[in-house]
Amino acid sequence: MKKVGVFTSGGDAPGMNAAIRAVVRCGNAQGVEVWGIHSGHRGLIENKFNKMDSRSVGNIIQRGGTILGTARCKEFKTEAGLKQAVRNLEQHGVEGLVAIGGDGTYRGMIELLKVWKGHAVGVPGTIDNDIYGTDETIGFNTAINTALEAIDKIRDTADAHERFFIVEVMGRHAGFIALNVAIGGGAEEMIIPEVKTDLKAIAEHMREGREGGKRSSIVVVAEGNDIGGAAKIAEELKKLSGFDYRVVILGHIQRGGSPTALDRRLATKLGAFAIELLSKGTSGVAAGELNGKRVATSLEDTVSKKKELDAYLQKLVPILSR
Ligand code: F6P
Repeated sequence: MKKVGVFTSGGDAPGMNAAIRAVVRCGNAQGVEVWGIHSGHRGLIENKFNKMDSRSVGNIIQRGGTILGTARCKEFKTEAGLKQAVRNLEQHGVEGLVAIGGDGTYRGMIELLKVWKGHAVGVPGTIDNDIYGTDETIGFNTAINTALEAIDKIRDTADAHERFFIVEVMGRHAGFIALNVAIGGGAEEMIIPEVKTDLKAIAEHMREGREGGKRSSIVVVAEGNDIGGAAKIAEELKKLSGFDYRVVILGHIQRGGSPTALDRRLATKLGAFAIELLSKGTSGVAAGELNGKRVATSLEDTVSKKKELDAYLQKLVPILSR
């Protein structure tokens, strides 16, 4: 393989730059030319290709966001969009692609491989951690640390005023961020998409906590849940418990910031591994790390199989908040 393209797609995640850097430098070390494609799937259609070299990825390992930009692109789901992408890839002589992103990015590669003769390898980059075939995704560790920093601050003011807080974290379809933040931040309760919510039980737990001498309580809520937004949950809980709840939505701050050491390391390993896989002629797989070992999982499996939450941690949340 002589020419490889790399792009980031979907929601950005801290550590994507470290992955791009590893792809470019490991590719170049093997004599492979690496081309950056700007704005994800959209850049493949709009022909935004630029040759990269070692210097173009200097001083980026510590930066959040993605130097290649990213986008969510509906056109890539159409036959016309895919065909245009293939024409652009062929025009540049790109034989392999490293696609850094989440499940939408992977689904795009599955479709592209049906109409393109090249090779593609995915690298899991999303703060949500909802990708099968890797213990953690790039950006997840930074996101939970960012959310925890915020929760620690909220706890100070919650304790001072003896207040209840609902803190909404990201996670449209999965509770990985919420669970890990609830454990790390000592939350009293957690509401996640994977579990049917029992608001009455939560209200009761809040009341017991107050009667048992708790000065403050925090409920961590994943944005995707069966009740609705944090404001609606606060309203319902107020009706059930009589207490007032302050609401904090952490939102996109969880996506930004300098990646943690763990995310830089994971991104570097998986970017390097993606080049290794492509150079062996492997295609249609995603690079991942399971139990400390690099693994390649078929893209089909990554999008059709469900990664489970840590059941042990889940059980601990209500026990630890007594
Ligand atoms: O997939 C990552 C993510 O941050 C989700 O947690 C969140 O629901 C979504 O992206 C937000 O997307 P956007 O930035 O397009 O609003």
